[in-house]
Amino acid sequence: MLDQQLESLAASTRDRILAAATSDQLEAVRVEVLGRKGTLAEISKGMGKLTPDERKRIGQLLNAAKTNLEAALESRQKQFADAALNARLEAEWIDVTLPAPGPRPGSLHPLTQIQQELEDLFTSMGVAVLDGPEVESEYNNFDALNIPPDHPARDMQDTFWLADGNVLRTHTSPVQVRGMAKLGPPLLMIAPGRVFRNEEVDASHEHTFYQLEGMMVGRDVSIATMLYFMKLLLRHIFGREVTVRLRPGFFPFVEPGFELDIQCLICGGPGCPVCKHSGWVELMPCGLVHPNVLRMGGIDPDEWSGFAFGLGLTRLVMMRYGIDDIRHLQSGDLRFLRQF
Ligand code: DAH
Repeated sequence: MLDQQLESLAASTRDRILAAATSDQLEAVRVEVLGRKGTLAEISKGMGKLTPDERKRIGQLLNAAKTNLEAALESRQKQFADAALNARLEAEWIDVTLPAPGPRPGSLHPLTQIQQELEDLFTSMGVAVLDGPEVESEYNNFDALNIPPDHPARDMQDTFWLADGNVLRTHTSPVQVRGMAKLGPPLLMIAPGRVFRNEEVDASHEHTFYQLEGMMVGRDVSIATMLYFMKLLLRHIFGREVTVRLRPGFFPFVEPGFELDIQCLICGGPGCPVCKHSGWVELMPCGLVHPNVLRMGGIDPDEWSGFAFGLGLTRLVMMRYGIDDIRHLQSGDLRFLRQF
């Protein structure tokens, strides 16, 4: 009787172990059959009524059934553990042979690019590249450049005055003053840099922009020297021959002063929207250095002469890339900057 009961219990339990879908179900089977109050324990309680021989035999069968079922439970439990481990490995698997995304290369700001390009060109021509402070004395920014105290350029409207009487330089021209003092004649220098104007910001005006000052002082520097130099510079900037013209222009630090125009590179002369149908584009002011400026720079104007020009780097970048709003340049907008 007990034999059969044991045998069918063992068989049905083995089936349930195999059929268990989760380790919880498996544990439930274990408690029910092998637990301290489980079916096997119940059976062994009934063994007291058996003869010693029977008890021994059934005891052995019971033990064997218990060992077998425990082994079956353990192996099923291991299957669950393995499956869980595999699922985890699958989920956490990474392909270590995939190439890394790599750093996104940065790029130089278009203004920096054009500045470096021009510095390279001028350096190759033996021109000194000078630097000046952005906070400049009133004297260097105005007086030494022959700008009288009542000149409108000194107006509060145009200039950022600092509490100590210095200014944020309104142009790179004060570096001419520093250059004359530092180098003495003859000299050939440029000074690229940031300048500031107290201006209402719109599509074509910024309070902060970039210029490149140039100055040459020598024995017989003339307008012809200046034009030769300018054409060389422009040929490099635009990568081709450009036609220029000079119009009179007034700046206190040059005499005569000019506005240098280039023939429109878009239409080549007949007129188009870019040159406002004039065929010419105003590019940079320039002129022969005023004798007062040379004198204040410690240079004898009877012995030496010179030319100077102020190239608007910001404007040049806008022309080169067809940028129609100056505010893009200092916006820090990566969508804009990544185009260069
Ligand atoms: N400093 C002038 C400005 O910012 C530009 C300029 C004009 C510079 C004539 C020069 C020059 O060197 O000769 O408006």
